Amino acid sequence: MTVICPGSFDPITNGHLDVIKRASEMFDRVIVLILQNQQKIDKNAFSYQERMDFINRSTKDMDNVVVDCYDGLLAHYAKMNNINTIVKGLRAVSDFENEFQQAVTNKDLYPKLETIFIAADKQNLFLSSSMVKQIASLGGDISDFVPKCIKEDILNKLGRK
Ligand code: PNS
Repeated sequence: MTVICPGSFDPITNGHLDVIKRASEMFDRVIVLILQNQQKIDKNAFSYQERMDFINRSTKDMDNVVVDCYDGLLAHYAKMNNINTIVKGLRAVSDFENEFQQAVTNKDLYPKLETIFIAADKQNLFLSSSMVKQIASLGGDISDFVPKCIKEDILNKLGRK
């Protein structure tokens, strides 16, 4: 079975990577799909190309993971590609309402579409891309939060010179 792990991945964090890895062990093929989150449109730090490159490098050891991006609705991408399952990570209770709303809306748009949630690892419960961007831009250490292979690129773009 092929599943989609969707997100804005601006940039990918260790939390995302953990969910992608666990999905890749459960399913035949995982498409990591970069989409636009309309609520974060003014806050994007990395281009689609940069985000794709970061994910490709971070998942290079996972043979059944591919990366794609789409400038439209997740439900339309899923329908177009005949994929019926979304896998998302769920961190704290504060994620729940928004994630639940998205799952229900996606199913309204494409009734075959189911969303499966994977509980975030306890190490990553409060980790987010926005937190990483804030720490990097204020000169903090992001080593524990992002894959090693992309850390320098993030700091080069956002870190204090
Ligand atoms: O990593 P994020 O920002 O929490 O991911 C949210 C994302 C990008 C998956 C969501 O905003 C999305 O699906 N955007 C694409 C547009 C869409 O389908 N919107 C309707 C979802 S209810």
